[in-house]
Amino acid sequence: MRPHLDETKTMKSETTRFPTYPTMIVLAVLLLVVVLTCVPYLVTIAFAEDTAASPIFGVTIPPGYRQWELIAPAEEAAPLDELRAVVGNQIAIDAYQAGRLPFPDGTILVKRAWKRKQSPEFASATIPGAATTVQVMVKDSKKYAATGGWGFGRFVNGRPVDEAQHRTCFACHEARAKGRDYVFTRLAP
Ligand code: HEC
Repeated sequence: MRPHLDETKTMKSETTRFPTYPTMIVLAVLLLVVVLTCVPYLVTIAFAEDTAASPIFGVTIPPGYRQWELIAPAEEAAPLDELRAVVGNQIAIDAYQAGRLPFPDGTILVKRAWKRKQSPEFASATIPGAATTVQVMVKDSKKYAATGGWGFGRFVNGRPVDEAQHRTCFACHEARAKGRDYVFTRLAP
């Protein structure tokens, strides 16, 4: 009885250690399926990173802008009904504080925007609701010579909007803020 039992055990453990040929084929096919499923996904990710830059200008959302210093808040009436905050990198803040125009190359201005929302705690107070757009202006007088030295980017949920919208940026900034290096926002007193 005993030797027989031991023999069975040995055979079983050997089967576990060395998968049979058909098992290996199944595993290889599964591996192939997993790899083939991942390839289009990886290609999509690579493509997405490419298109995270705005059309025409190739402007991207600058890292760390949420920590940048406030230049001024703004409010937009209906139909947009938004609260905005324009912030800038250190080059922008230094230029503003020195009252220097035009802004030097390397200046980056970011306009954050949110839906207006009534405070749940206080009737007359308005607070930021859902974030709507992040808009960026980058100063590079050589690269963007055709648009006053500024590159533009408008992003919704981190994705740039279409080319048609990017064609409108400079026209409006040029028509109304040309004398201030195409920048509307003044440093908040
Ligand atoms: C019809 C006019 C108009 C158009 C078009 C427009 N803007 Fe503006 N932009 C403004 C005004 C007005 C401000 C001042 C802040 C505010 O009122 O929100 C501003 C402010 C900004 C600012 C902050 C710096 C500044 O000039 O005050 C950025 C950045 C910006 N816009 C980016 C863009 C981008 C990117 C586009 C195109 C996708 C764009 N804007 C299109 C009117 C316009």
